[in-house]
Amino acid sequence: MSNLDKTSVGEPALTVTHPLVKGEVGPGCAKVDPIVIADSVTRQFGGLKAVDVAHLEIPRGQITALIGPNGAGKTTMFNLLTGFDKPNTGTWEFDGKSLAGVPAFKVARAGMVRTFQLTKSLGRLSVLQNMLLGATGQRGEGLFSSLIKPLWRQQEEENTIRADELLARFKLDAKREDYAASLSGGQRKLLEMARALMSQPELIMLDEPMAGVNPALTQSLLGHIKNLKADGTSVLFVEHDMHMVMHISDWVIVMAEGRVVAEGPPETVMKDPAVIDAYLGAHHDTDLGDLMEDGPNPVLEAERRAREAHPEAASEDDGYAKPEERA
Ligand SMILES: Nc1ncnc2c1ncn2[C@@H]1O[C@H](COP(=O)(O)OP(=O)(O)O)[C@@H](O)[C@H]1O
Ligand SMILES: [Mg+2]
Repeated sequence: MSNLDKTSVGEPALTVTHPLVKGEVGPGCAKVDPIVIADSVTRQFGGLKAVDVAHLEIPRGQITALIGPNGAGKTTMFNLLTGFDKPNTGTWEFDGKSLAGVPAFKVARAGMVRTFQLTKSLGRLSVLQNMLLGATGQRGEGLFSSLIKPLWRQQEEENTIRADELLARFKLDAKREDYAASLSGGQRKLLEMARALMSQPELIMLDEPMAGVNPALTQSLLGHIKNLKADGTSVLFVEHDMHMVMHISDWVIVMAEGRVVAEGPPETVMKDPAVIDAYLGAHHDTDLGDLMEDGPNPVLEAERRAREAHPEAASEDDGYAKPEERA
């Protein structure tokens, strides 16, 4: 765990507390009501430790942003927690149940679903068919129950009703019968979010929900995420748009080089020198107060420069989608 020595700047050591936190606020701090608790999670790619998280807790019923520069390990952390990738070490529990080593479809059934940085909607299926694939625990899936038509027919009808409600909520109802491939990038993001909600998850994890979304849809996407919280769903999202992070998150966790380097409520975390260091490197003369203003945002600027310098890293490819699943 990276620790910021708060006494080194000549100020008295302050114990910072927060209603969501048990004890002192800081990287890896315990939460009063965590929905996810992870310990010693590491994932190595060759010589690179993409994830090296000593301890992490996600608060229940809140909107938590996971931020950090490109390559910080955010997507890898998502992949590990949701069973799309296997860690070298580590354990974690979701809602009190250990989920380490549990495959993705069972993680989804347990109530933790995620969307992908690169959308994974199936282009040659209709929008409605994509939605129905998102439902978990269909009775027709079992060998014996699949033979009993009345059982799965009723389930399918219930799923279709839920799918139509969600499509209406995400303003995709007019596209119900269209191939997912015909949707715009932003609409596919919405479809993926709607599909994730088919299984009525406890925790939804959104990997860059705003990336590729037309600005006209941005506001409604923000509204959708706030509604999820209002419905009692916990939200964890990765986002580069700091205005969005400031605007809707209750809690912000910052990763850099695989580790959690800072966390806190948005208004304080953005002033944390460790956060600026993570984006700009250790040497900078940035006025941290700028982050709170409109206008040039040093974190966003650093992001933009990094993306320009490494367009391949900035692509939406998260490295996990199979080519045939790409719409
Ligand atoms: N499948 C993979 N194989 C090799 N390296 C990977 C793989 N996935 C991610 N990485 C590397 O791990 C680091 C973390 O990547 P990632 O989790 O995608 O970061 P973020 O989502 O924060 O931008 C990066 O250096 C990336 O290049
Ligand atoms: Mg990523």
